[in-house]
Amino acid sequence: MEIFVVPDAAATGTVAAGLIAAVIRSKPDAVLGVATGGSPLPVYAALSSHGLEMSRVRAYALDEYVGLPTGHPESYGEVVRREVTERLGLDPVNVRVPAGSAADPHQAAADYDAAIRDAGGIDLQLLGIGHNGHIAFNEPGSALDSRTRVETLAARTREANARYFDSPADVPTRCITQGLGTIMEARHLLLVASGRDKAEILAAALNGPVTADCPASVLQRHPHVTVVADQAAAARLEPGNNPVQVRVVDASVGV
Ligand code: GLP
Repeated sequence: MEIFVVPDAAATGTVAAGLIAAVIRSKPDAVLGVATGGSPLPVYAALSSHGLEMSRVRAYALDEYVGLPTGHPESYGEVVRREVTERLGLDPVNVRVPAGSAADPHQAAADYDAAIRDAGGIDLQLLGIGHNGHIAFNEPGSALDSRTRVETLAARTREANARYFDSPADVPTRCITQGLGTIMEARHLLLVASGRDKAEILAAALNGPVTADCPASVLQRHPHVTVVADQAAAARLEPGNNPVQVRVVDASVGV
């Protein structure tokens, strides 16, 4: 596992975008796993300035709410359309999001897991981390080998995501999420984190025990993980007891 510590959230975008751009230049039809939330936004903004040929790039979203009508502005389908497909110039045909509005979300989840496999798996999966250690919507207690499935959102997750809705009551209670086992099959995991509020959970995920209580800790078992954190989010990482190489990267240089 490699950790890049950079000055601020914008720099996490610069460095992470440099890594993604390298993958796309080496594989024009790369399969990217894309994340929602605030942490990936600087990555997409920085990546859009690379001027890459994106028409063959394929993208799979990590998760989607269950029960929002298709086209709801805060559905992850719409968030991905705005922040990834349109911003990066991907062909919408090549962008997939779990079918959260399907009549049978459990079948939709199984179909999504199979679609990722049929695409040859994900080359690089971009990840954020929730305050309770979730990745995608794998909440604490999720099996470390879980597959794409319907999951009930933790109260803390609904509270954190309420900022995107008119009322907390509007936040869905369920979702379809790529499972931890599904995520771990990606060939490269790229976790971005910024802000003081992520310092404790990032340290727990990277320095603490591998446990379902902190789903992000499963990353310790993956052979190719890159973490890009700003100094605030990295503040609690202990280089001494942390088996990772910590480097401060001059974001103007990129990677
Ligand atoms: C949501 C998303 C996760 C994301 C998390 C943290 O729960 N499903 O993929 O990592 O929010 O979001 P943020 O980056 O805004 O802290």
